Amino acid sequence: MSGSERDIDLAAGRLPFPDGSVTAVVMQHVVEHLELHRQLVPLFQELQRVCTDDAVLWISCPDLAKVCAAYATDRGQALKEDRCRRWPEYTLGGAPVQQFINDLFQARGRHRNLFDLELLTWALGQAGFSAVERIEEADLLAAHPEFPPRHDDEQSLYVRARKSR
Ligand SMILES: C[S@@+](CC[C@H](N)C(=O)[O-])C[C@H]1O[C@@H](n2cnc3c(N)ncnc32)[C@H](O)[C@@H]1O
Repeated sequence: MSGSERDIDLAAGRLPFPDGSVTAVVMQHVVEHLELHRQLVPLFQELQRVCTDDAVLWISCPDLAKVCAAYATDRGQALKEDRCRRWPEYTLGGAPVQQFINDLFQARGRHRNLFDLELLTWALGQAGFSAVERIEEADLLAAHPEFPPRHDDEQSLYVRARKSR
């Protein structure tokens, strides 16, 4: 991952950590970059292996439900304005606002899937994670203040899950 202290390919099917050695996992805007069946579910299975029994998994990603609702409501205008408040340099290059919805889905070819709570819960469940619950960014930051705020609840899904076996 860019900017990390360790260069780990999360799609490689193997994490370089011993069994039961990880107490917390935070993945912000990463799961949407992995192919669901071949990469993401195997990553979650690896996380089951490396996590301690009481480990907590924190995930955020673009929220499929919020993105679709945004298109239906105003073609994404409010979400795009929210993006521009956070990233003043963001531009659609003059395209109409619905192009922002495409950008959320595709991220110029970098995104594989968007998730709503049900789909992400299913993927986590395939690896045995349970107690998946929707949270807010503030819940993540309260537990892990070392992460910078993204202020993106308006477009993102935040969940917390626990290892269940
Ligand atoms: C949208 S950025 C999010 C970065 C950071 N987590 C944040 O919240 O600002 C997506 C990140 O996923 C990482 N990524 C995508 N596919 C990856 C893979 N197969 N292995 C490791 N990292 C990956 C990219 O390197 C990038 O850092």
